[in-house]
Amino acid sequence: MGISALPLLLLLLIIFSVTSSVISCPPSERAALLAFKSSLSEPYLPIFRTWSDPNCCRNWYGVTCDPTNSRVSDISLRAEASIFIRHRHSGQISGNISPEICNLHHLSTLILSDWKNISGPIPSCISSSLPSLRLLDLSGNRLSSVIPSDIGLLRRLTVLDLAGNDLSGGIPASLANLSSLMHLDLSNNRISGRIPRDLGNLQMLSRALLGRNLISGTIPPSISMMSRLADLDLSQNRISGEIPEEISGLPVLSSLYLDCNQISGVIPEGLMRSRGLNMLNLSRNSIEGSIPDVFGRRSYFNVIDLAHNRLTGRIPETLTSAGYVGHLNLSHNHLCGQIPEGSPFDRLEASSFSSNDCLCGMPLRRC
Ligand SMILES: *[C@@H]1O[C@H](CO)[C@@H](O)[C@H](O)[C@H]1NC(C)=O
Ligand SMILES: *[C@@H]1O[C@H](CO)[C@@H](O)[C@H](O)[C@H]1NC(C)=O
Ligand SMILES: *[C@@H]1O[C@H](CO)[C@@H](O)[C@H](O)[C@H]1NC(C)=O
Ligand SMILES: *[C@@H]1O[C@H](CO)[C@@H](O)[C@H](O)[C@H]1NC(C)=O
Repeated sequence: MGISALPLLLLLLIIFSVTSSVISCPPSERAALLAFKSSLSEPYLPIFRTWSDPNCCRNWYGVTCDPTNSRVSDISLRAEASIFIRHRHSGQISGNISPEICNLHHLSTLILSDWKNISGPIPSCISSSLPSLRLLDLSGNRLSSVIPSDIGLLRRLTVLDLAGNDLSGGIPASLANLSSLMHLDLSNNRISGRIPRDLGNLQMLSRALLGRNLISGTIPPSISMMSRLADLDLSQNRISGEIPEEISGLPVLSSLYLDCNQISGVIPEGLMRSRGLNMLNLSRNSIEGSIPDVFGRRSYFNVIDLAHNRLTGRIPETLTSAGYVGHLNLSHNHLCGQIPEGSPFDRLEASSFSSNDCLCGMPLRRC
């Protein structure tokens, strides 16, 4: 070893000893993690068996600490295929989420997803105790009870995913205060009540997925303020009233699922004109009036499903000039007249047009 390498080596040694002593979790955080672990059980995978080292910042599966202050920053436990393959067994966690988790005051990520059998409530203390939380994903479990009413206190939250649980109660009004939220997924629960009127305050929101719940009331016009909204799914609820005209003003809306509700009124013309929209499912509602005849070269739809409504009039001729229409379903309405000729009609099945009042022409009977 050359003499010049010696100071470097010493420096590395000092850095190493400093960082390894800093990265040692405080006893209170270790205790909180152990309490969290003790209320959960996983019989097949060695996940929680790794949670034993005195230093919870080292080798605890799914636990990460912030290197600057040695506080627990992430708990990330996803039921992923890669773990199952590695251990040649699928896994399931039972039990519930201990409120002790609220002692991890610097937690920024909490992911506990797809474990199927985690039940009980979402500890309500998270809203007031975990101000740094950015990502909360508890999807794919059996959590019950309600969404904490003061969830709006989590001002840094960017992802809230509670999909696929047994949650009931309403969408808390305070949710509209989550001004950093980009991704909201509450689908597939038993959530009821109305959509908060000022949901449109969520200026950063790009995905709002609320499908497969028991949500009633109308679509708040304030959603037109969400200039980044790309995906809106309110399907399979009990939503009534009209599609607000304002929805046409969403500049980057790409998918709109309102199917299986009690929506009435007409299809806003601007919606069909909207440039980026490419997935539209309005089927199984009570929508009336005619289909706006406003398609053009820039219309690019993978799906337009308007089946099971009360649409009248003719099929818009301009559909033949659309840039692309993949799947089109107009069945079970009151449409009449000749099906236009040319693309996309030359490759659609008869079932896309069946059960209307008096449609004719290919692929149905001749006029
Ligand atoms: C799921 O959780 C419940 C209650 O915690 C428990 O009784 C049941 O045995 C668990 N099911 C499986 C398959 O582990
Ligand atoms: C939203 O935040 C504001 C300002 O902090 C507060 O006054 C208001 O009560 C909050 N709204 C709800 C519904 O919690
Ligand atoms: C549209 O929604 C209906 C009702 O939920 C569903 O049955 C249908 O498959 C959907 N259409 C497409 C093309 O996905
Ligand atoms: C159109 O929708 C109806 C009713 O939802 C369904 O039975 C039919 O299979 C659909 N046709 C196509 C081509 O998807």
